[in-house]
Amino acid sequence: MTIEKESQIKPFLKKIEDEDYKHLLDMSPRLVKWYQKNKRPLPWRVLWNQHSDPYHVWVSEVMLQQTIINVVIPKYHDFLEEFPSVHHLANAGEDDVKKAVRGLGYYRRFSMLHEGAKRVVGNSRGKKSIQWPTSFKAWKELPGVGDYTAAALSSITLDEAEAVVDGNVERVFCRLFDVRLPPNLPVLKKGFKKLGNFCIDRKYPGDFNQGIMELGQLICTPSDPSCDVCPVQKWCLARKNDSTVSAPAQKIKKDFVNLDLNLVIFQKQGKFGLLKRPKSAKFLKETNGFFTLLRQGKGFVPDGFQGTFKAHPKLKSLGAVSHSITNHRLKVQVSCGDHKQAPKGQKIEWLVASQVESRLIANLDRKAWKLFIKETMTP
Ligand code: ADE
Repeated sequence: MTIEKESQIKPFLKKIEDEDYKHLLDMSPRLVKWYQKNKRPLPWRVLWNQHSDPYHVWVSEVMLQQTIINVVIPKYHDFLEEFPSVHHLANAGEDDVKKAVRGLGYYRRFSMLHEGAKRVVGNSRGKKSIQWPTSFKAWKELPGVGDYTAAALSSITLDEAEAVVDGNVERVFCRLFDVRLPPNLPVLKKGFKKLGNFCIDRKYPGDFNQGIMELGQLICTPSDPSCDVCPVQKWCLARKNDSTVSAPAQKIKKDFVNLDLNLVIFQKQGKFGLLKRPKSAKFLKETNGFFTLLRQGKGFVPDGFQGTFKAHPKLKSLGAVSHSITNHRLKVQVSCGDHKQAPKGQKIEWLVASQVESRLIANLDRKAWKLFIKETMTP
């Protein structure tokens, strides 16, 4: 970071420390009013309005953790059709849950949602009405519910004044204070949270949180923000200083790490071997897929699978697929082999092609399977 940027951090943090933001108090009702009038009728908002069932909000917040709204919407509808209540989800099989979220990535969040549903139902001990968490702290005790998700859930479902801080909120706050720093700079996070908790509307905390996210998604966008129609332009220093291009500065981008993987499709009398990746795997923990190995030195070691696997010289190479997971760019060599070459001591399910097709969840496995079909089954 440049010296110029470093020199901006302290004054901003000092402002936060000194609570030099009291002028923003009357911004919150304005934002809330704007949100209430203009909010998009996103399915989870409509359902919460109709039923006040925290389950509907919980599912949406988990899906939105890593995925954009337009991709979430159709999956959200399908998911609720299959698991309409927390009881349905709690009683569902692991594979059915995974199938329902196929393509969304970051599958552990859904294993944790499933686990959480079992816990909520279990905590309710057969009582007719479900005992939902009653505070931010209690929401956080559920698996997969971190600070951000708990703040969204407790503000929306319990009217608890706990601010969410996501990328949109960071950008809005940077503009309000004309902070020309990367908005995701870790030292700023605590300050944003404090600011959010100060500004949050005590009467409508859920609408405030969703309003500030909505503002960032629709109006205060990264480039070319629509300041003319912004409900809070009156409070915005970047607008006043004509600096919305430089406030905030470019986000800090995570460096990509290039990694080599091997993936092997084992065959046994017209069937194909699927394994459940262990919790200790580096990639795609707890998904059903093909056998994957990570580069270690000059060789490859099974990714999380116990026991040894000696790469067999008779494995047939099919080519490579590229795939990204978080900040890893993977180059994956795909090969196939006979079941006798499969690792020993692993539980392997042998499935016909149509079953494989419906059981694969992760995009990496689906890419490898597509390559396998192309290379071995097309004339
Ligand atoms: N992103 C995460 N939660 C959201 C919500 N409730 N509304 C809009 N965007 C979101």
